[in-house]
Amino acid sequence: MQQNDINILAIESSCDETSAAVIQNGRVLSNHIATQKVHERYGGVVPEMASRAHIQNIVPVVDLALKDSGVNKNELTAVAFTQAPGLIGSLLVGSCFAKSFAQALKLPLIAVHHMQAHVLAHFIDDQPEFPFLCLTVSGGHTQIVLCRSHLDMEVLGETMDDAAGEAFDKVAKMLGMPYPGGPLVDKLAAQGDPLRFRFPTKEMKEYSFSFSGIKTSVLYFLQAQKKEDPDFVEKNLADICASVQYTIIKVLMTKLERAAKDMGINQVGIAGGVSANSGLRQALRDAGKRNGWKVFIPKFEYCTDNAAMIGITGYHKYLAGQFTDLSVVPSARASW
Ligand code: KG4
Ligand code: ZN
Repeated sequence: MQQNDINILAIESSCDETSAAVIQNGRVLSNHIATQKVHERYGGVVPEMASRAHIQNIVPVVDLALKDSGVNKNELTAVAFTQAPGLIGSLLVGSCFAKSFAQALKLPLIAVHHMQAHVLAHFIDDQPEFPFLCLTVSGGHTQIVLCRSHLDMEVLGETMDDAAGEAFDKVAKMLGMPYPGGPLVDKLAAQGDPLRFRFPTKEMKEYSFSFSGIKTSVLYFLQAQKKEDPDFVEKNLADICASVQYTIIKVLMTKLERAAKDMGINQVGIAGGVSANSGLRQALRDAGKRNGWKVFIPKFEYCTDNAAMIGITGYHKYLAGQFTDLSVVPSARASW
């Protein structure tokens, strides 16, 4: 522990994961995540239950992250927290905690945008060169982001309706799986035929996406098939998952390749919960080979929501002197 070490306590609470991390000079010392199992049986995140679970989890998770890092709270340099976007009740828990903690210890406070943090997760273990192009795919967002520097980012295109993760989760729900269904679809897809069933997709302008059509076409397809054979889903589960996953990945990769070509960028990554998908990870590696890209694929623990990515973003904001005061409030929707 050096006297001029920059030790950042980071807090993430935007949706259904309560997470805390300690980052020293841009290196992760600890990263703890409390996942909320309570939502599984409801088929989606129940906001009020998420807020209550955050209240229960936040103190033990922060405590664990501090103990595990070996950094004493008096050795902290700053506190970073997710300010937006997300579920407002969930954001409130993390932001109130961070503000109180920073005030009690007289530490500077850093507000972090969750989507910017998903992109900067790539800089935890790696250092993509700029300009860097990132496809961020989560339960709430689908974006192609152009990064000119750590803190200079531009959203080139995003979804006009459902997010890619939402499409995975909603199809999984139709197939009788618990929330979040994305990882289960991924697992089953590995044993299925991706070309067995075709689902139409909507052509969107430039780098925009639309996933609500896929969801509806799967719904109508399943209704029609179940009329013929009530056991259709059970008999064809792996092929349905593989075909849906193939369709979603094709839409994502087509736009990403187009953007990279148009911008002349060869440093390309994926981020967000859906970047844990094995099919998407492979599709990026294949596209990298085809196009001569250097590809960036996050470790699994940095794909889904985590505080380490809030910490790395906090670190870069600290270096840039971007602090916030105690009047800061969380925001459910905010662009950056
Ligand atoms: O980034 P994230 O943890 O939370 C949000 O900010 O939304 O992303 C969660 C989303 C969920 O929709 C979940 O089903 C999806 O990521 N997901 C996956 C996989 N792992 C997580 N989707 C497809 N395949 C996976 N392996
Ligand atoms: Zn996220």
